[in-house]
Parts: sequence; C-alpha cells; structure tokens
Amino acid sequence: MKNHKLQKRKDQVFARGMGNLLPIYAVRAKNAELWDEEDNRYIDFAAGIATVNTGHSHPKIVAAVKQQLEAFSHTCVLVTPYASAVRLAEKITAVAPIEDARAIFLSTGAEAVENAVKIARVATGRPGVIAFSGGFHGRTNLCLGLTGKVDPYKKGFGPFTPEIYHAPFPAEYLGVSAEVSLAALEELFKSDIQADRVAAIIIEPVQGEGGFYPVPEGFLFQLRELCDLHGIILIIDEIQTGFARTGKMFAVEYDGIEPDIITLAKGIAGGFPIAAVVGKADVMNAPEPGGLGGTFVASPLGCAAGLAVLDIIEKESLCDRAVEIGNRLKAGLRRMQADHPALIGDVRGLGAMVAMELISDGDANQPNPELTKAVTVKAAELGLILLSCGVRGNVIRILAPLTIKSKHLEEGQEILAEAFRACI
Ligand SMILES: Cc1ncc(COP(=O)(O)O)c(C=O)c1O
Repeated sequence: MKNHKLQKRKDQVFARGMGNLLPIYAVRAKNAELWDEEDNRYIDFAAGIATVNTGHSHPKIVAAVKQQLEAFSHTCVLVTPYASAVRLAEKITAVAPIEDARAIFLSTGAEAVENAVKIARVATGRPGVIAFSGGFHGRTNLCLGLTGKVDPYKKGFGPFTPEIYHAPFPAEYLGVSAEVSLAALEELFKSDIQADRVAAIIIEPVQGEGGFYPVPEGFLFQLRELCDLHGIILIIDEIQTGFARTGKMFAVEYDGIEPDIITLAKGIAGGFPIAAVVGKADVMNAPEPGGLGGTFVASPLGCAAGLAVLDIIEKESLCDRAVEIGNRLKAGLRRMQADHPALIGDVRGLGAMVAMELISDGDANQPNPELTKAVTVKAAELGLILLSCGVRGNVIRILAPLTIKSKHLEEGQEILAEAFRACI
C-alpha cells in the first residue's frame, strides 16, 4: 500500500510527462539488490539505466563521497577548482581511446551531447550535424533534434534546431545493412546538405534506448574514413555503453578507431550527476575560454565518485566481469529462445548490455510490445526490475550492475524466465 499511496501522491504533484516505469518506491539498495517502501526485495537488472555499473552504494564510492562532502560540496569549478577534477580529467583522458585528449565535465548526458556539438561546430566552422534513426541522445531541444525516435521523446516538442539530418542506423536485425546506411549518408550529402557543411556525425556504438542494436563490424571504420574524407568530426556517444558496460572501458574500442570526441555520463560516477566530453586536443580547444561551463559542472561529489569508479573498474576487473555476465545472460536467453522461437526473435548483446527482441509468429516484422510490457510488469511482481527499449517497444534489455553476485544474476535470470512463462 505504501508504494500505491506514494504513487497517488506523486500523480498529484508531478507533471504526467515525467512518468515512472514501476510504482516501486526505493528505500535502500545494495549492489544489485533494492528494497522498496513495503520492504519488498528486488534484483535490479536496470542499474538506474546503466548508471550504477559499480553496484548500488559501493563502499568505496560511499567513502569517497562522504570524505568530499565533509570537505566541501560546491565551489564551482569555474571559480575555484579542486584537485579531484584535475585528477579525474587526467585519468579519463588517459583511458579514453584518443591520443592527446582533453576533457570537460558537465552534469548530464544531454549536456555532454550539447557541448560535443557546440565544440564540433566551433572547431569546423560548420553548422550541420548528422545523427541516426533510432538513436537517443537526450531530452534537451538540441538533443531531441538529434534523437531518432519520435514517440514519446520528440512528440509535440518541436521545432528543433535546424541543420540536423538523420541517416538510417545499420540495425541488421531490422534489415538495414551497413551498405544501406552508408549509401543513405552519401544521398544526404547530395540531397540535403553538402558534406563540407557538416560539422559532426554522432552515433552510439550500440543503440541504447533504440533497442540494443550494435553497429555492424567495420561500420565505424567506414564512418571514420568518411569523416576524414570530408573533415567531419566523429562523435561517439558512449553515455550508455561506457565504463566497462560492454566488456571494454568504451565500446568503440572494439572497432579500433579513434573518435574525435566521445560523450560520457551515466556509469562515470556510480549515480552522481557528472558527465564528460573527451576529445582530440585541437578540437576540444577550439572554443574560447569561458565558452564552455556551467554552475554545477564537474561537481566535487561527482569527481570524488568518478575517481572511485575508475579504481573499482580496474581493481574488480569489471570489463572481464561484463563479458562473463553477458555470456551467462545470453546463454540463458538463448535457451528461452530455443523453447519459444516464435516469440523471441533475437538475443544479442555486447558484454553486459544484453537484450531479447519479442515478436509474434516468428516474424521479425511483427514486434510484440504488449508481451514486452507484460513481462516487465510481471517480473517486478516477482521481484526483478527490468527495462524495455526499442524503436518498436519490443526489446527487453538487461543492464545488471557489473558487480552483481553470481547467485543474484542467476536469481534474476530465473525470475525473468518465470515472468516470461507466466505471460505467454
Ligand atoms: C546514448 C545516450 N545519450 C544521451 C543520453 C542522455 O543522458 P541524460 O539522460 O543523462 O541526459 C542517454 C540517456 O539515456 C543515452 O543513453
């Protein structure tokens, strides 16, 4: 009842546009477990949408943040900076797959994307930005313009900023090959914007909200070549894929290319609101001093947490663990798929970013968002927090903390299988 009552109170005071997936009101959470107002316990396969990759309330993060809080909580890094911000920038530029990198810190993912575009425009002196269908880059006006999914993100919120164009994302399961996507880019250069007016191309190496579709092998390499040919900045949005989630620190490392800019947020600081743009020095240094910033950017608590996160990823070998978690999850989902090929069209994932696509009659062209919704609701009833995604609303995605204990991973998998059985 407490959950229910809180939901009623929330509905009275929150605008409905800011909905919540489940009427589960969190009281405490530890690693991959979460307890609600009624003391129900859940296994958390959402991790605050890929944010607590290092688990809820990791003791190292709690200690680092407590220590920082006792020292000071805010001075504004633009006024009197602090060593933790410098240390975090040193560490992040060292792990980023970019030579001679520079960083800036912001507060949210959307802000990181906005700043990446600002920087690319100044660095090139060009206006255009190309993004991909199904992509998600945040909820500010510029980011919504870049986002490639209308319902619910863009619906009614326009007009968006001009000079943004979309190419089809190469989601092979949806029948869009790398060749089709590259040909569409060439077509854009002919029909919509000449290539030398394009400042940047932005892409997620694995689409997050769009449905966990990874770019096909070699695609980013081809995109890199195209960008080099036309002097376009390549922005890789690693906001959901970053910080060991896919089995590498950043997913773009699988493709072995050097982006001009990467955008980071979510898993960067175990739940503290900090984000970053990291890029090549000549690109990042294009805006004049004072051109980049904000009151809350590089928050001291976020910097302290971010340093702890990097330490945890290294000491607890979370990249390796992500691969192990992903393999176990995929094996479990593939067993379910073998039993229900007409309903589970695809099981995929890079590291611990794993998904299954639900369809009807074994037909990839018949998405099954109803079953997807029913499974997530049933899973919650049975004690598992699970997210869906996808341009067609028919993908169940798993983003368990990378620190999850094996027994909790198994427990979550069993609940998912039970929820699925109960809904078919
Ligand atoms: C790939 C990607 N980019 C940008 C964002 C926006 O981040 P934020 O919600 O912190 O603004 C998200 C959030 O889900 C994301 O997944």
